[in-house]
Amino acid sequence: MTLKAKSLLELAEVVVYDALVSPAILAMINPQAEQINAGKRRGRHSLSQTETIDLLIAKAQTATLVVRLKGGDPFMFGRGGEELAALREAGVTVEVVPGITAGVAAPAAAGIPITHRDYGSSVTFVTGHEAAGKYRPEVNWRALAQGSETLVIYMGIHNLGQIIPELLAGGMRPQTPIALIRWGTRPEQEELRATLATVLPLINERRFDAPAIVVIGQIVNFPL
Ligand SMILES: C[S@@+](CC[C@H](N)C(=O)[O-])C[C@H]1O[C@@H](n2cnc3c(N)ncnc32)[C@H](O)[C@@H]1O
Repeated sequence: MTLKAKSLLELAEVVVYDALVSPAILAMINPQAEQINAGKRRGRHSLSQTETIDLLIAKAQTATLVVRLKGGDPFMFGRGGEELAALREAGVTVEVVPGITAGVAAPAAAGIPITHRDYGSSVTFVTGHEAAGKYRPEVNWRALAQGSETLVIYMGIHNLGQIIPELLAGGMRPQTPIALIRWGTRPEQEELRATLATVLPLINERRFDAPAIVVIGQIVNFPL
């Protein structure tokens, strides 16, 4: 996180935070602040999105400094854009503080440079878990197989069984390396490296679970 985010946490009167924020960051919050866990994890919603927005609007009416604390970067698959729009519509003044997204931080912590002159000049950040009922077209995995040297997939671990066949159908080679990084940057960080052809049974065998970032591309073979 940035120094600016840290100083805002130290001054906050109210902090509304999500599930994947690390305990080390929660420990920075002003001890006098009201701390509300709006955390969402797969299948377990503490507060609905509407409830979270309503709460933020209500708190902003009584407190001078409310911090909405999200994991990584608020605009990277974090619904930060939706919350910003709703708050602005309600007349709340909002400042967005950028963060370091898991798709950059977790590979870096695992020693995988997501761009490198010799391995990959293009990288795509993509969700492996799309919102249902949306109006835009689904992720075109076959096109991505050809369109980007490195893929960084958020929330993808439970759908790799559907995603990998699409990438192969799009022309990606079965020998393409893949890395899964769970709890990246945290003491409990775990990694699984394989190829598109071998990874699925290994995930089951090792009971490798979310939250994880998936990196696909030759960059995964960057020498450790
Ligand atoms: C709803 S998205 C939020 C991403 C967040 N806004 C960001 O910029 O990192 C949650 C997904 O981010 C990834 N993620 C978040 N924290 C992670 C971590 N410490 N290690 C690995 N993946 C993480 C996982 O793919 C997880 O399912």
